[in-house]
This record gives sequence, structure tokens and C-alpha cells, in this order.
Amino acid sequence: MDVHALADFEALAREALSPEAWGYYAGGAWDEVTLRENEAAFRRRFLRPRVLVDVSRVDTATTILGERISLPVGVAPVALQGLAHPEGEVVPARVAGRTGLPYVLSTFSSRSLETVAAVGRGLRWFQLYVQQDRRIAEQLVRRAAEAGYRAIVLTVDLPRPGIRERERRHPLTETGGLGNVPHTEGAQFIDVIGGLMDASLDWDDLAWLRSLSDLPLVLKGILGGEDARLAVEHGASAVIVSNHGGRQLDRVPATIDVLEEVVAAVDGRAEVYLDGGVRRGTDVVMALALGARAVFLGRPFLYALAAAGEAGVTRAVELLREEVEAAMALLGCPTVAAVTRDRVR
Ligand SMILES: Cc1cc2nc3c(=O)[nH]c(=O)nc-3n(C[C@H](O)[C@H](O)[C@H](O)COP(=O)(O)O)c2cc1C
Repeated sequence: MDVHALADFEALAREALSPEAWGYYAGGAWDEVTLRENEAAFRRRFLRPRVLVDVSRVDTATTILGERISLPVGVAPVALQGLAHPEGEVVPARVAGRTGLPYVLSTFSSRSLETVAAVGRGLRWFQLYVQQDRRIAEQLVRRAAEAGYRAIVLTVDLPRPGIRERERRHPLTETGGLGNVPHTEGAQFIDVIGGLMDASLDWDDLAWLRSLSDLPLVLKGILGGEDARLAVEHGASAVIVSNHGGRQLDRVPATIDVLEEVVAAVDGRAEVYLDGGVRRGTDVVMALALGARAVFLGRPFLYALAAAGEAGVTRAVELLREEVEAAMALLGCPTVAAVTRDRVR
């Protein structure tokens, strides 16, 4: 496969996808300032290597919520992976399981959470959107727990969808169906989502959510210290610093630029992860140095899936593994724990 960087999948995916699917996957909100900023902010930062450290062996493994993963990298929840591949979420979930990466399944996945769980081994978390009919969330959490998902990732930055112009120019109406929740085709997908969401959800509802299962709760979409503190006070085991890949409120900062504020507020009481704009092994080590325990990638895995199916996603993981290993070795860090704050400017 003539792919030497995650970015190479993007052009291939664009060719493979319909304009509607491409607009849905690639787009951000409003002027896409935040979408671009997520990647740009990584490139404004610089690494500080230490030399003459024994890096003859580099161990990229770590744990998240107590479970071992082979790289500090996971697959972010992305809706409608059936637009990229006939088997949809099943393919990246299988690759993630085989390669030791965590896989987060979206509420709005094309395949059902049970179908995805049937791929077998692998650490999987379930991403929850709370809809106006709260019974749906209760059922989803119960099903996820029964199917072996190990955490509930509540996405908190989508009381309603952001204003996404690319989707308005290329309306996505044929989704191929949703795996977890009933849905009728015909209307624009983003409007369907907007109509379902419970915009009244607030901090007081987290007690109800936590009562639904024993699974740890992860809050996805935290962008500042105050909310990070509230997340911990309301029992979150982890937070994901995320701006939804620039798809919700435009003009919020890049996630890498607010990571330290969140890490300081959490103060070791919960794990902190980051997503948004991670494209290189050097981005991964920068996030680790600034206090993230792991990072998640959305679009790169999606593009790899659309471009080359299972071989593509496998290649994406290989590339990331090679890049993270090389970055750690050249930074003078034989273990993930050795990637400390002093390694980034
Ligand atoms: C096409 C698409 C669909 C997404 N669907 C969901 C979703 O269903 N639930 C969710 O929590 N986040 C969703 N996200 C956000 C991702 O989980 C993640 O925050 C984001 O993609 C990370 O940025 P990156 O694409 O730059 O890696 C979606 C992102 C994309 C690009």
C-alpha cells in the first residue's frame, strides 16, 4: 500500500466517498477555524529531546481505566461508518481489538453495538448521546454493559449540532440505517440528530446516568478547568478534552492548547485524554507530555477505512505505532511514563 503517512488516506477517501459522505466526514462548523486549528496548534509546538538515554527497547504500552492498551492511542467514536465500508464499525473494531487499541462505538453507529461486540477480543467503550426519550439511554447503557463494553463515554458538547455548512451544501439523507436506535430515512441526518437530542441535560442528570450501570463514566467534550472540576465532582472517571473535531462550536481553541488547564484542574483525580487533530506520532507524544494519558483519532481511521477497508485501518495503526515508537526513542523516552512535561516547549 503506497501510504506512508496518515494524511495520505485523505485524498484516497475523498475519491472513494460520495460528495455527501465526504462533506459529512470532513466538514467542521461555521468557518472551520477550530477544525484547522486542531492540527495547526500541534505544529506550533516543539519537542525537547534528551540524549544518551537507553532506548534500545521502547515500550509504548499503557493503561486506561486500568486496562492495558498497546499504544496510548484509541479510535474515537464516529457515527455512520457504514458510509465508508459495507461492514461499517465492525472493521475498525476488529483491527483495534487485534492490535490492542481501544475502540469507542458511537450511539449513531451504522452497525449495532451487539454486532460490533461480536468481533471478539478488544477493549470497547460505548459513546452515549442522551435523547429526549430518556428510556433510550437507559436501554443503550444496559445493552452496552451486557455486550461487554467497559465504559460509558457521555458526549457533552452536542446539546444540538453545530452549524455545518458543508453538510448543508451536500445534504446527507441516505445513511444506510442506524444500528442502535430506530431512524427513518429521508430527512437530512444532521436534522434528525438535532431533533432527537435532549438539550436539557445538565450536571444533575449525571447521578441518574451513573445509576444505570456500574460502568465508569467518561465525559467527552471538556474544554476548560471549571467543567473538568465539575466532571470530577460528579463522579467522572475520566474526561476527554475534545471540541468534537471542530464540528460543534467554531472558534473554540485547539484541544492541545487547553489540555494543560484541564490536567491542572483534574489534579490526578481522573484520567485525561485528548482528541482533535492528532495526525502524527509526534502529536501523540506532545499530548502525553502535556498530561494526556492517551489520545483518540477520528477522521484518520475513518479515511483509512473508506480508502482501503481492513488493510487500510491496519496500515493506519502500523504507521502510528512506528511513529510513536520512533518519536519516543528520539525524545529519549523508553516508556510512556517517561514522556514528561519537560519534553515539550
Ligand atoms: C464524521 C464524524 C462523526 C462523528 N460522530 C461522533 C459521534 O457520533 N459521537 C461523538 O461523540 N463524536 C463524534 N465525532 C467526534 C469524534 O469522536 C472526535 O471527537 C473527533 O473526530 C476528533 O477529531 P479528529 O477527527 O481531528 O481526530 C465525529 C467526528 C466525525 C469526523
